[in-house]
Amino acid sequence: MDVYEAVASRRAVRGFSGEPVPREALERVLRTAARAPSGANLQPWHTYVLTDAPLAELKERTAERVAAGDPGDEREYQMYPPELTSPYRERRFGAAEQRYAALGIAREDKQAREKAVTANWDCFGAPAALFSYIDRGMGTAQWADIGMYLQTVMLLLRAEGLHSCPQMAWSMYRRTVAEVVSPPDGLVLFCGMSIGFEDTTTSYARIARAPLAETVTFLDGQGRSGSTASARERKDRYVPEQPLTSPSTTHANPRYVQEGL
Ligand SMILES: Cc1cc2nc3c(=O)[nH]c(=O)nc-3n(C[C@H](O)[C@H](O)[C@H](O)COP(=O)(O)O)c2cc1C
Repeated sequence: MDVYEAVASRRAVRGFSGEPVPREALERVLRTAARAPSGANLQPWHTYVLTDAPLAELKERTAERVAAGDPGDEREYQMYPPELTSPYRERRFGAAEQRYAALGIAREDKQAREKAVTANWDCFGAPAALFSYIDRGMGTAQWADIGMYLQTVMLLLRAEGLHSCPQMAWSMYRRTVAEVVSPPDGLVLFCGMSIGFEDTTTSYARIARAPLAETVTFLDGQGRSGSTASARERKDRYVPEQPLTSPSTTHANPRYVQEGL
């Protein structure tokens, strides 16, 4: 699998088969992901990998809290700004709409939506999960390093035929995670990540992205084009986004072809 294919086929998978994830594959992925860049090579990531009994215990303990209506622990960081402005607000709601539509859940069906959210704490059925911590003293640049590391992990998982779902939802029950993984003092849980083989019977939406011109501006000496370009400039210069495929390979997997990838 080449890099384009890994990027194109990664998505937040929320339905896993129970098939165990080989330990060697996880070690290979995490050993290689350590090549991710970080400012001054700080490598600020602390990763805990749970499978088998420890993961079952975590799921069970968390399920008890969720079932009891426990709203979770006081947050250690803000998942989103309290007032999301445009275009982020629309993107956030758009993603939720696409996701629930694919699951056949109506906007007003609060119960079904809640059930879908609750699946987070069962890791969507995944038999493996990692928990990503960072030192409390680290700054925003190091949090960005963690993001690069986690994306590297997710792409390498694709190369192993595995899928993933990063989950900030786990930060809501961080004390329960801490009871099971016993991290040293001073670490903050950023997120969990469910890992496993996809349950191909679970329906999903391929969540859309903003057009390139909305998020990228090119300055090439001929003028500007992209998000700050005028409508006229955009019309003249904007080339529609190409399907995210490798320039040199075609996909053997008919699913990718079906999705136009
Ligand atoms: C840092 C981070 C945290 C996330 N937390 C959750 C989560 O708690 N639960 C969940 O179902 N998805 C979570 N996601 C997945 C996003 O919703 C998903 O990546 C986004 O909607 C785009 O969809 P795609 O990854 O399938 O293309 C998270 C993604 C990131 C990067």
